Amino acid sequence: MKKIPVIMDVDTGIDDAVALILAMQSDKLDIKGVTVVAGNQTLDKTLHNTLSVVDYFGRKDIPVAKGCDSPLVRAQYVDPATHGESGLGTAKLPQPSIQPHHLDAVTFLKETLENSEEKITLVPVGPLTNIALLLTCYPHVKEKIEKIVMMGGGAFEGNMNAVEEFNIFVDPEAAKIVFDSGVDIVMCGLDITMKSYTTWDDIMRLKATGTKAGDFCAEAFGVYYNRYVSNSRLPGCAVHDAVAVTYLLHPEWIKTEKGRVKVDIEGANSYGATVCDFRPCRDKSKDNALVCLDIDRDKFVDLLVRACESYK
Ligand code: BDR
Ligand code: CA
Repeated sequence: MKKIPVIMDVDTGIDDAVALILAMQSDKLDIKGVTVVAGNQTLDKTLHNTLSVVDYFGRKDIPVAKGCDSPLVRAQYVDPATHGESGLGTAKLPQPSIQPHHLDAVTFLKETLENSEEKITLVPVGPLTNIALLLTCYPHVKEKIEKIVMMGGGAFEGNMNAVEEFNIFVDPEAAKIVFDSGVDIVMCGLDITMKSYTTWDDIMRLKATGTKAGDFCAEAFGVYYNRYVSNSRLPGCAVHDAVAVTYLLHPEWIKTEKGRVKVDIEGANSYGATVCDFRPCRDKSKDNALVCLDIDRDKFVDLLVRACESYK
């Protein structure tokens, strides 16, 4: 079976780490690199976390490139309340033995796309700063991008306020550039990711795998789980970023709707909202995204358990 060539763009981050754990063990994906952006924490921390995760889970072969340390326009916003001061909750990983790639993330993306004989799928699961700069500075690489499967936004809900999701909220101008770029987008927003949660029993299943991945997830999910259960309507914690990887592995588990997504960068109460138009009467020639809306949660959790088991 031919593997899907991908580059992940992360702001590691608890659920980013789980997304990497899921992606790195899959024989369906050929990970050409991981680029890093500031988001859940400052860039020095998200880079350190990414190097640690890639190294600790046995994928020193994957290049990790350092990207943008702040959004295009908005002041930087990080989220220690959700992801902890380190960005990985209370989980501790050994110091990474690998170094960042010598190219910065945007140049790494450009060169990898240019030099690739096949189209590559980009999988950004943090603010879209690196991807927006890539598409703005090097628009010719669009033809080498198969599609962008991203975590961010929401058609019917927000998490920063009623309409804004964190990754888009952090850098709305970057998100607008990406959604207006003409590249095919699969949007794994809150509509699906809030249905992709792990209960405490699920987290205990991850731990019961007895692997370093299971132990890591159980430890990292501690504070994150408590925050979700006390601050959201969920009976568990949403594993947002792993949903984008799941889409690549099992699109058949996911319900989608094609539509036109616009990012608002002007509204006083909706700056950073992803405004999704699914009306049958819309101009369908302007559709720019496949919006993910629902998932088989049991299968999603089983996939995470199997991914942890594979780290024996
Ligand atoms: C997104 O924001 C971050 O907290 C997560 O890593 C995820 O990418 C969810 O809104
Ligand atoms: Ca993220």
